[in-house]
Amino acid sequence: KRVILIGPPGCGKGTQSPVIKEQHCLCHLATGDMLRAAVAAQTPLGVMAKQAMDKGELVTDDLVVGIIDEALHRPACSKGFILDGFPRTVGQAQKLDEMLAKRGEKLDKVLNFKIADSILEERITGRWIHPASGRSYHTKFAPPKRPGIDDITGEKLIQRKDDNATVLKSRLEAFHKQTSPVINYYERKGLVATLHAEKAPEVVTKEIEKALGSSS
Ligand code: AP5
Ligand code: ZN
Repeated sequence: KRVILIGPPGCGKGTQSPVIKEQHCLCHLATGDMLRAAVAAQTPLGVMAKQAMDKGELVTDDLVVGIIDEALHRPACSKGFILDGFPRTVGQAQKLDEMLAKRGEKLDKVLNFKIADSILEERITGRWIHPASGRSYHTKFAPPKRPGIDDITGEKLIQRKDDNATVLKSRLEAFHKQTSPVINYYERKGLVATLHAEKAPEVVTKEIEKALGSSS
């Protein structure tokens, strides 16, 4: 299956991705995770992306389209993929259509994580992540067994630099202005399934399973 996850910051894209990945054997491509890794490694890409990310603005289409184009050529992504956080502009969506057309592939589903803005601040400010794996926790909703420590590796958890109330405002603005038109773009193609992303994680997982149908 070829699946896109769209929704505002903190809606649950990163939380649901491992579940979808496991059940459908898909590769998970999260542009935010890939950009953060590039920033941490101070690669040329990271240096170019850092300023926009710190402010909660989108990085340029060319940068992220380049990352995705390269990633889609991985053998692991030939049978299917989950795109988490891409496309985020109509320009990116058009570029993705071109890339897929060249490969003779089609999208199966666009999962629209619908949630009110008012719920997101608590989710974002309480999030702690394990940078190496991208696993996320929440002080209230999904606490690690030991505070500040990853359950699996025992390594330290960190908070993202953009996970504060001020930067969240810009991220939400970017979502409403630049990314919500992408939902309309896919609605016209009949690909969108809308989820109740404010519900508990297990409930959202069930909605996703229903939208995606049988595995493979
Ligand atoms: P990115 O990393 O994609 O951030 P985002 O879209 O803001 O999304 P988040 O990762 O914050 O939210 P999420 O939906 O994954 O939430 P999660 O599941 O962790 O992008 C970061 C930046 O990179 C952008 O601002 C931009 O600069 C740049 N960028 C990335 N892609 C780009 C692109 N395509 N074009 C241009 N620029 C791009 O959940 C959040 C918290 O809530 C967690 O603590 C979790 O435990 C908890 N939680 C999750 N689900 C539930 C639930 N159902 N109930 C209660 N708590 C829950
Ligand atoms: Zn995420």
